Amino acid sequence: MMFGRSYLSENSRHHLAMAGCDLASIAKKHGTPLYVMNEDLIRHNARNLVSGASSRYAGCDVAYAGKAFLCGWMCEIAAQEGMRLDIVSGGELHTALRAGFPPEHIIFHGNNKSMQEILYGVECGVGRFAIDNYLEIQMLSDAARRAGREVDVLIRVAPGVEAHTHRYIETGMLDSKFGFALENGEASRAFRCAREQGYLRVRGFHCHIGSQILETTGLEIATRRMVGFSASLVAEGYRTEELDLGGGLGVRYTQADDPPSIDEYLDSVIGAFLRECHRQRIAPPRLLLEPGRAVVAEAGVTLYTIGAIKDIPGVRKYVSVDGGMADNPRPALYGAVYEAVLANRPGDAATETVAVAGKSCESGDIVIQETQLPPVEPGDILCVLTTGAYGYSMASNYNRLPRPAVVALSDGRSRVVVRRETYEDVVSKDVLGKKTAKRLLAAAREHDGSTRWQSS
Ligand SMILES: Cc1ncc(COP(=O)(O)O)c(C=O)c1O
Repeated sequence: MMFGRSYLSENSRHHLAMAGCDLASIAKKHGTPLYVMNEDLIRHNARNLVSGASSRYAGCDVAYAGKAFLCGWMCEIAAQEGMRLDIVSGGELHTALRAGFPPEHIIFHGNNKSMQEILYGVECGVGRFAIDNYLEIQMLSDAARRAGREVDVLIRVAPGVEAHTHRYIETGMLDSKFGFALENGEASRAFRCAREQGYLRVRGFHCHIGSQILETTGLEIATRRMVGFSASLVAEGYRTEELDLGGGLGVRYTQADDPPSIDEYLDSVIGAFLRECHRQRIAPPRLLLEPGRAVVAEAGVTLYTIGAIKDIPGVRKYVSVDGGMADNPRPALYGAVYEAVLANRPGDAATETVAVAGKSCESGDIVIQETQLPPVEPGDILCVLTTGAYGYSMASNYNRLPRPAVVALSDGRSRVVVRRETYEDVVSKDVLGKKTAKRLLAAAREHDGSTRWQSS
């Protein structure tokens, strides 16, 4: 156990080890930057969630929220561990279908699905659409009519609960782009509107109040409101068959974070759900939970090679790495804080305070504003912890940087599950006329006489 993480250790070579693998050797073998996923920990988390949920309430299923980290390999794991899958785009749907994920176990979310995405979902037989707005009610009903089949839907409700997290990852308030608010009656209106449409079977309701939630009170309040809303519809002769309470369970990014354990989370949400159903005298509907981050975040680390080091005496020491905001935009996007350790000498005393800088051409590309490290040298391997969620899935080719590979570790073995992009991948979508490259070269040579760099 190192750095308060039970899944990290120091091996006999005095290197950092995870899932029985030497992370310094993994960096050497696969290159950096590199996303490394601990398959054993992902499966452990998935099993705890799935079995913990069904043991507390037999009618409870767990979906993995693919936005946290999605690729064919992750779809396989989710399916093997008995999870459903939450997706939000045609691209995520395509990823899942290509990996053989059963479409009937997919829930399609999103606040602005296109007709093309809706048709794709209807045609492949997606299990549930979580309807987010009136336009979607109309489009989905039209798509279902065209396909000649009914589709099963949930209505996304904004229960008006503060998640106590970053504003950008808080979603359940009245002033949110997501869903129909409870407090102004929109949720009831949308429900009636959807029921009046042909081809839509309203199975129930969905909510998701936010992400990286570190205390469960908000989740419990939202749960009670959703049950209360369901109970209020009994008078209209409607029985809610399903409630999807979203995801949001937080994780430990730094040792200061103290998220609820999976068991505490399930006790709190399922407990609140069952008690409220009892209090409201309704038969408990089927329940769905949709964690993403809690499944994969702590199972992922990113390995970087340290390069340039700039020491500004009395100000700050910048330690630059060979990745940054292109492979992990979270620090730049919402000030996310991480911890790091040297993979090639984790036992050395961390005596220096440094900033870890990314390589992108932005002053804001700082991976960690302030962290303690041993004195470092170019070539050291830096391991940034808890990067398994919303890193790879949010990565970009900013500065035309190829995206890193993803390597999965299990029981002392490693395998590439997403290959590293090449420069050819980066340019592969550029549309150049056949003669463009030659013409550019010729034009450059023509200018050359006047603009040639002097080579003294
Ligand atoms: C609808 C929905 N479900 C589930 C999730 C997963 O959240 P988390 O990764 O925090 O568990 C999100 C995240 O934004 C979401 O929007």
